[in-house]
Amino acid sequence: MSPTIERDIPADELDDVRSGRLPARYDHRLQDVFLEQVDRRMRPGVRILDIGSGRAPTIPPHDRPAACRYVGTDIDADELAAAPPGSYDLELAADATRPLPVDERFDLILSWQVLEHVESMADTLNAFRGALDEGGTLIAQLSGSRAAFALLARALPHRLRVLAMTRLLGHVEEEKFPTRYDACTDKDLRGLLVGWSEVEIIPFYRGGSYFLFSDPVLKAYLAYENRVAARDLRGLATHYLVVATR
Ligand SMILES: C[S@@+](CC[C@H](N)C(=O)[O-])C[C@H]1O[C@@H](n2cnc3c(N)ncnc32)[C@H](O)[C@@H]1O
Repeated sequence: MSPTIERDIPADELDDVRSGRLPARYDHRLQDVFLEQVDRRMRPGVRILDIGSGRAPTIPPHDRPAACRYVGTDIDADELAAAPPGSYDLELAADATRPLPVDERFDLILSWQVLEHVESMADTLNAFRGALDEGGTLIAQLSGSRAAFALLARALPHRLRVLAMTRLLGHVEEEKFPTRYDACTDKDLRGLLVGWSEVEIIPFYRGGSYFLFSDPVLKAYLAYENRVAARDLRGLATHYLVVATR
């Protein structure tokens, strides 16, 4: 998935939508849906914790409101160190499954394509809750456990998965991290978010980009995904956007 979310960039899949290779639901970026949620909560002085942001803060410095405090965390200190200078007001090498190692609270927690990597979703959401101020909001984008690409990833050893993604899809090796897919479904997430004051989980059916390497494979995959999308079978969604207020 893409790193720092810049605005006004067309979806990678747009040409394939125009040529009819992909259906219309691929015509916009998932990043823009995420940004819509972020924008509603941006205001001067907002305190943001970006979880698993590593080398690419989710919101670039030039897109943050005045006096925004922006803290970046990642389990891997080298990833944080690789971020462009000025990306963060504070960098914390910390495991998202554990309580935040500083006594600071936030208005917003952002997490872009990180939750499928954590060992325990329950521990992670508890830690997030502890780091949010009363009324603060978590906005997290993650991949679904039952997406076809996730099932393949779970069946393959990590090294083989990386090899397949770099060779077949041209993904960058350094941007591939081991996935766990713990509780990455609509139902499991809702169960773990009981007790939060407001919860919205938006499902997406957007796994086609993993199968663009072959027209017959893509066609077979889309025959399946189109049915899942038409029936809005949320348990089989490829991605979820979680918006949860403490
Ligand atoms: C797919 S990358 C996403 C990075 C960034 N958000 C982006 O879009 O470029 C996943 C990131 O999550 C971090 N990560 C994995 N497990 C983590 C954990 N338990 N706690 C914090 N960060 C974690 C990885 O080190 C990596 O930087």
